[in-house]
Amino acid sequence: MKRVAVVTSGGDAPGMNAAVRAIVRAGTEKGMTMFGVRNGYEGLIASDLIPLSNRDVSEILHLGGTFLGTARSTEFKQSGDAQQRAVEGLGAHEVDGLIVIGGNGSQSGSARLEEMGLPVVGVASTVDNDLVGSDISIGVDTALNIIIEAVDRVRTTAESHHRAFLIEVMGRDCGYLALAAGIAGGADVIVTPENDIEPAEVERQLRAAHERGKRYALAVTTDGAVNNAQRCMEFFQSHEEEIGYELRVTILGHVQRGGSPTTFDRILASRLGSAAVELMASGGSGQLVGWIDGDIAHTPLAEVAGRHKVAPQEMWELLRVLTK
Ligand code: F6P
Repeated sequence: MKRVAVVTSGGDAPGMNAAVRAIVRAGTEKGMTMFGVRNGYEGLIASDLIPLSNRDVSEILHLGGTFLGTARSTEFKQSGDAQQRAVEGLGAHEVDGLIVIGGNGSQSGSARLEEMGLPVVGVASTVDNDLVGSDISIGVDTALNIIIEAVDRVRTTAESHHRAFLIEVMGRDCGYLALAAGIAGGADVIVTPENDIEPAEVERQLRAAHERGKRYALAVTTDGAVNNAQRCMEFFQSHEEEIGYELRVTILGHVQRGGSPTTFDRILASRLGSAAVELMASGGSGQLVGWIDGDIAHTPLAEVAGRHKVAPQEMWELLRVLTK
């Protein structure tokens, strides 16, 4: 493998830049010529590649987002013709291997490119932490730290006013962020796509927290749950009189994906990025590079594509014990 390209794809995640830096420098060390693809799979279809030297990836380690740009490409997902153009574009640059840094949708794309004969290695990166093949993905630790800071801030004002609050976090189809925020942030009620409790039940559990002597009550919901912040807010507004107290709502949104990566994410990204190059240099392909049981792990992309991990049951049990 002599000429290798790296692409960041799907939702950005803090630490993607650290991964690109590690890939470029580990590749250069092995004598590879490195390229970056701009703007995710959109750039792959348009053959928008730039050469990347060690100096080109200076001063990005501490930056959130991805300096290469990213996109959610419906065209790549849906069109075999677009996928073919992506492979041909890489061929035109004589690129003989691709490293894809991204989450679920992006790694389904990697699996597709691999099937088409392109050597591909994936790197686990998504704040949602729903990728099969990695206990934790790049960006999760940073997002959680931002969430917990917000939860702690909301808690102080909630306590002063003896109020009920609801905070909505990201995660889409996976409740990991909400559940982890519940454990680390001391929430009373958690709503996730896997545990999509109705607003009336959210209200009942908030009331129960008040009745057992808490000076405030806190719920955390996931953006992808049916009973997300919007739905809960509507319920509280339309049942205001019977409920007898108001719900204050904070939607954290993209704040969770922005800003500088934590130390943990920088190290994870650097290790996964360099392991991806190692795998490619040894002729490996069709694998996701992730982190399992405290070490680098390789999982076939075919096992990763189209699936998503759910939060471990023990976390729910722990939450039940802690929410007293
Ligand atoms: O997949 C990452 C994620 O941040 C989800 O948690 C969230 O639901 C979604 O992306 C938001 O997507 P977008 O950035 O395209 O609005």
